Amino acid sequence: MTWTPEAAQSARALSAELVIDHSVKVARHYNSLQEVGLAARSRSRIFFMRNFNNWLKSILIGEVLEQVRGAGSQQVSVLDLGCGKGGDLLKWRRGGINHLVCADIAAVSVDQCKSRYEDMKKKSYANEKVYSAQFISADCTKVVLSEKLDDQALMFDICSCQFVYHYSFESEQKADMMLRNACERLKPGGFFIGTTPDAFELVKRLEASDSLAFGNEVFNVSFQSKGSYPLFGCQYHFSLEDVVNVPESLVYFPLFEHMAKRYNMRLVLKQRFSEFFEEKVKKEQHLSLMMKMAALEPFPCEEGGRQATDSRGEYCHAKEHCGSSRRPLGTLSKSEWEATSIYLVFVFQKMS
Ligand SMILES: C[S@@+](CC[C@H](N)C(=O)[O-])C[C@H]1O[C@@H](n2cnc3c(N)ncnc32)[C@H](O)[C@@H]1O
Repeated sequence: MTWTPEAAQSARALSAELVIDHSVKVARHYNSLQEVGLAARSRSRIFFMRNFNNWLKSILIGEVLEQVRGAGSQQVSVLDLGCGKGGDLLKWRRGGINHLVCADIAAVSVDQCKSRYEDMKKKSYANEKVYSAQFISADCTKVVLSEKLDDQALMFDICSCQFVYHYSFESEQKADMMLRNACERLKPGGFFIGTTPDAFELVKRLEASDSLAFGNEVFNVSFQSKGSYPLFGCQYHFSLEDVVNVPESLVYFPLFEHMAKRYNMRLVLKQRFSEFFEEKVKKEQHLSLMMKMAALEPFPCEEGGRQATDSRGEYCHAKEHCGSSRRPLGTLSKSEWEATSIYLVFVFQKMS
């Protein structure tokens, strides 16, 4: 190949492409996601699964806030690490917190989160005091967040990291920085809560598959190899309907737990979504929130209505459960359940 300015430029572009780390791909992906209205969301194939995930986060957030208040905290401050477009802003409002810091690598999402917050504040009741907030756009696997806080003395009661921590397991350095950001400003007794895929479940499904991938009509997970799984940077590609299409990394939970000890964090809860659901749904108030949030799909659907999918076999479990009764029950299609049951809930507490 002969040297020309054009060839040099394309070689530079190629090498830049090669050194792009996953964070850049992840930020690009989330920045490119369009905000869709309620009407479009309700037509989504995974409408009920998303509501189910939101219900689960609401319960987790509500229960941890109860514990924080029970311990006597008057002014509650929260860090939403990987806040996205602000899907949890209302949950914090319902929880009556005083201050929220939202951080995310995707600058467009952070802007949308901020406008949503301002909108929410405008629409609040005259006598309601909505929490104050700060918005930070930063790669939380690389940047020390505490240096970016408006209030340099701020300490948090809770750090919430929903569907995010797995992006940091690309390397030990990144996973440690994310953990530092989550924990270093927690008050003694404060909580680090979150949701992340269960690596054991992912590997189990991969090993059971004939290929390097598994999934169904709503999600797909593909690995590059199987049989050996490095502790960091064990990458797979995850796609979920039209909302996720990015590289992620396995989080080997015993290692995560071990690393958290460096920040004086003790694991208090680790539960698969299925277990968490089964336990929480027994409480009347959680069940009624579940109905209010449409977190399960009615089966059979109303006369003239349609289920989320017409595919065969997606509601066999519900049919079996109904038997001859025509009383509708709440369920998720098989594909949505297979997707959501990959995840687990975790709660760490800072020791004093
Ligand atoms: C699946 S979304 C979850 C958003 C929000 N927590 C929720 O539950 O709706 C994952 C979020 O993690 C963010 N994220 C991924 N890597 C990150 C990093 N290195 N630093 C900060 N945010 C990151 C993405 O930009 C995205 O907004």
